[in-house]
Amino acid sequence: MTTRLTFHGPLSSARADAIVDRLSANRPHTVLDIGCGWGELLLRVLEAVPEARGTGVDLNEADLARGRRSAEERGLTGRVDFLAESARDTAHGPADLVLCVGASQALSDADCPTAEALRSLRRLVTDGGRVLLGEGIWDRRPTEAELAGMWPGAATSDHLSLAELLDLAVASGFRPEWTETATLSEWEHFESGYQAAQEVWLAANPAATETRNRLDRHRAQWMSYRGVLGMAYLTLVPVLR
Ligand SMILES: C[S@@+](CC[C@H](N)C(=O)[O-])C[C@H]1O[C@@H](n2cnc3c(N)ncnc32)[C@H](O)[C@@H]1O
Repeated sequence: MTTRLTFHGPLSSARADAIVDRLSANRPHTVLDIGCGWGELLLRVLEAVPEARGTGVDLNEADLARGRRSAEERGLTGRVDFLAESARDTAHGPADLVLCVGASQALSDADCPTAEALRSLRRLVTDGGRVLLGEGIWDRRPTEAELAGMWPGAATSDHLSLAELLDLAVASGFRPEWTETATLSEWEHFESGYQAAQEVWLAANPAATETRNRLDRHRAQWMSYRGVLGMAYLTLVPVLR
């Protein structure tokens, strides 16, 4: 069942437009999208920078297929590759712009993948380039009761605060050009849009126990991390070595 989402995360079109403007101003020739999904942001950057070429890497075949269809509709097919492969130890890059949005787990299998992902991102970006890191953070530290209601095995150590994330980015060889965080309204749009088609289907098929249980479970998890789990979007400039 398709989702009603444009982006696979809490990202409004207005914020995406501002991010694309900022990243395009640096005129990247090469763009690498780590864990690209259907690559909406990647495609918008390629539309904004006609001389740029893009590579998106992901393991999810259905999302990659949506990305390829979307590239074709926009006349971008010859300028972008959507590749079904792991980003772990990727042979692609360095690139002038590296996107890693909601996908640091594609660069590390640590419980908190941020540190290893930032080290890889510094290696994957050219000097003078940019990294856009979209990373889950704690907007505030969760209580034990909230943690118990989140995803299985949720722990305080799963995420950093915004201040800790920025410190880690700096320690990993970046300066933060721009720092922003998703609003509650962006989260609500994302979480609703992700489930909406299935909720409407379930209302017409109330005997579908498995779907009902899955949606009820997810709703309970969301209510536990709503306002607690955040998302930071950092535009990072690599420090020259
Ligand atoms: C939350 S989605 C974000 C997708 C996209 N960046 C966006 O913002 O719309 C995380 C993505 O990371 C991908 N992923 C997870 N592990 C990966 C790996 N080892 N290599 C490449 N992609 C991976 C998933 O398949 C998924 O599409």
